[in-house]
Amino acid sequence: MSSAKTRNIKDAKATTGNLYPTRIDLPEEQRAKIVALMNQRLAETIDLSLAIKQAHWNLKGLQFIGVHEMLDGFRTAVDGHVDEIAERLVQLGGTAHGTAQDVSNTTSLKAYPTDIHKVPDHLKALADHYGSVANAVRQSIDETSELGDEDTSDLLTGVSRTLDSNLWFIEAHLQE
Ligand SMILES: [Fe+2]
Repeated sequence: MSSAKTRNIKDAKATTGNLYPTRIDLPEEQRAKIVALMNQRLAETIDLSLAIKQAHWNLKGLQFIGVHEMLDGFRTAVDGHVDEIAERLVQLGGTAHGTAQDVSNTTSLKAYPTDIHKVPDHLKALADHYGSVANAVRQSIDETSELGDEDTSDLLTGVSRTLDSNLWFIEAHLQE
């Protein structure tokens, strides 16, 4: 590594706080913005993942078994994307903030209700959560592309497809 490159990395650490050096050639300033954005998406996808199990455990009603089992598949899919998001931002020199405290401080989602049990009530609450996360991810597809990171943009496109598909399943249960 050249001394000029080393100096750039040190400067970046001074201005962006805590990025680790990497051979990925995206400018440090852009990497810092992408890392911050991806930590926001990480908090929301973890929050969604927890909400899915909250519904899976507590819902009651005639549609119980179908929805209960459907949600296990949703949780597995979201957890896969949580891992992709965290690992991508670490590849860019960031630190993944996935603790319960980090998620609580960072997520933009409303608290999932803990005083409901009817299947339609859980489906409505989950649809709201899915919609919020899916739309934030969709916006980040463009933001990361504009920041010059087509790999992260592509990763988020995959996340977006899963979230939209799962949301469709939920909304289809709710449509009269
Ligand atoms: Fe279970």
